Amino acid sequence: MKSSAAPSWLPDLERSGGPIYLSLADALGAAVTSGALKPGERLPTHRALASALDLDLTTVTRAYGEARRRGLIDAAAGRGTFVRPPPKGQDDRRPAVEVDLSMNLPPHPPAAEISARLSQTMAAILRRPDLPQLLSYHPSAGSADDRSAGAEWLSPLLPGLTAARVLVAGGGQAALMSLLTTLVPGGGTILTEAMTYPGLRAAASQAGIVPLGLDMDAEGLLPDALDEACARLKPAALYTIPTIQNPTTATMSPARRAAVAEVIRRHRLPVIEDDAYGLLPDQPPAPLATLVPEHVWYVATLSKCLFPALRVAYVVAPDQRRATRAQAALRATVQMPPPLSAAVATRWIGDGTAHEIVTAIRREARARQDLARRLLPPDVLDAHPEGHHVWLRLSPTCDAATFADRIRRSGLAVVPGGAFAVAPAAASATHDRRADNALRISLGAARNLDTLDGALTRIAAAMDEDQETTPEIV
Ligand SMILES: Cc1ncc(COP(=O)(O)O)c(C=O)c1O
Repeated sequence: MKSSAAPSWLPDLERSGGPIYLSLADALGAAVTSGALKPGERLPTHRALASALDLDLTTVTRAYGEARRRGLIDAAAGRGTFVRPPPKGQDDRRPAVEVDLSMNLPPHPPAAEISARLSQTMAAILRRPDLPQLLSYHPSAGSADDRSAGAEWLSPLLPGLTAARVLVAGGGQAALMSLLTTLVPGGGTILTEAMTYPGLRAAASQAGIVPLGLDMDAEGLLPDALDEACARLKPAALYTIPTIQNPTTATMSPARRAAVAEVIRRHRLPVIEDDAYGLLPDQPPAPLATLVPEHVWYVATLSKCLFPALRVAYVVAPDQRRATRAQAALRATVQMPPPLSAAVATRWIGDGTAHEIVTAIRREARARQDLARRLLPPDVLDAHPEGHHVWLRLSPTCDAATFADRIRRSGLAVVPGGAFAVAPAAASATHDRRADNALRISLGAARNLDTLDGALTRIAAAMDEDQETTPEIV
C-alpha cells in the first residue's frame, strides 16, 4: 500500500536512461544545483520515495548511497537524510576559500612569462594584415594552419601525424561532447575507468549516455575487466585517460597499453583516448593511438600545458573520413574553435614559445610534486612526478567527503573521490567501493610553492588529528 503523505521532493525520472538508481542520484544532483533542494533540507525517507515512485526500497537506498558518495547528501543517524551544503564559493555562510586545490590547473611560475608573452602575441595578431578574415567564420575543424600546428605539436607523441587527421576544437570538453555524440548517437553505454574526469560524466549525462566504470589498479584500467565488459555489455565506446589519469594519477605502462590495445582490437571497440596530461611527462609514453590507430580518437587539450582560458584542444581522428564526421559534430556544438585563441596557439607552437612554457610548467610541477611527497604520508599517496594533482587515499575510518568538508571549513578546497566515481561495469561485486575514499589534491592551483607548502602541511595535520580522534576498535 502506498503512503498517503506525498514526499517533500519527488523527481521526474521519465526522461532519464540507464540504471534507475543512477538516474535518481542524477536527479538529486540536478535538484541541488537548481536550488529545488536547499542545503540542509531533509529528504524523503527511503521508504516514502520508493513508494511514491513505485520503486524497490533497495533502488532508493542505492541512489541515496550514490548521492552520498558524490557529496550531495548526508545521513544523520535517527534524524534522516539531508542536503549537504554546496561546494566552494556557493554558500555565503562558509568561509571564503583561502587556498583552492580543487581545480586541476597548470601552475604558472614566473619563468613561464605567460602574461608578457600573451600580450606581445595578441598585439602581433591584431596587427596582421588578414585580421578581417581572422575575425570572421572559419572551418569548424579549424584553419589549415591551425590543424598543421596541431599535427606539429602532437608529432612527438604521434610520429608522422598529418593535418588531415587533426581537428581543432574549442577545448577538451567540447571535443569530448562532440565525440560522444558522434560515437554514441542516440545514447547507449560507454566504459570508463572506475573513477574518471567529471566533465566526461557531465557530457555523457547531457547526451543520454551511461558511463560504466572498469576496475583499475596502479596502472589504470584492467584489460580483463575491459574484455569481460565488452563481451557482456557490448559498449559503444571506451573513454580512457592512460597517462596521469584524472583523478588517480595512474599511468599505463607500455605492457599495460599493449594488453589494453589487444582487447580493443579484438572487440573492434571505438576508443576516446583523453591525453590531457600526455605531454607533461619528460618521457611521454606512446599513446594507445599509436598501437590501435584504426580504433582510437585521440584528444589533447592545451589547458594543462599552457592555460585553460585558451580553449584549444586537438582531436586526432582514426582516418580522414572519420575526421569529417567529427567535424560535423564540432560544427553543431561550437561552430568552430575560437580563432584568436587558435592563432595564439599556432604562433606559439611555430616559434617554440609553447614548448618553452610547457617546459617551465613541467619544472614547476616537478617541484610541487616533490613538496607533496615530503609533506603527505607517502604510503597512501599516488602521484606522478610531473603531474598537476595527487590522489591521497584515506583510511576506511575517515570518510573523504566529511574530511574534505572539514578542511573546507578551514579555507582549503580539495575534491573528495566520490566526485569522480562511476557506477561499476562489473556484474559481480569485484568493484572496490572503498577505492574512491580518497582526495584529489590539485597542486597547480596554489599561487606558489610557499602557499602550497602551508596548505599541504595543514592537510597532513588534519589527517593526523583524524587518526588521533578515531577510537581504537579491538
Ligand atoms: C582528463 C581531462 N580531460 C579534459 C579536461 C578538460 O579540458 P578543457 O579545459 O580543454 O576543456 C580536463 C580538465 O580537467 C581533464 O582533466
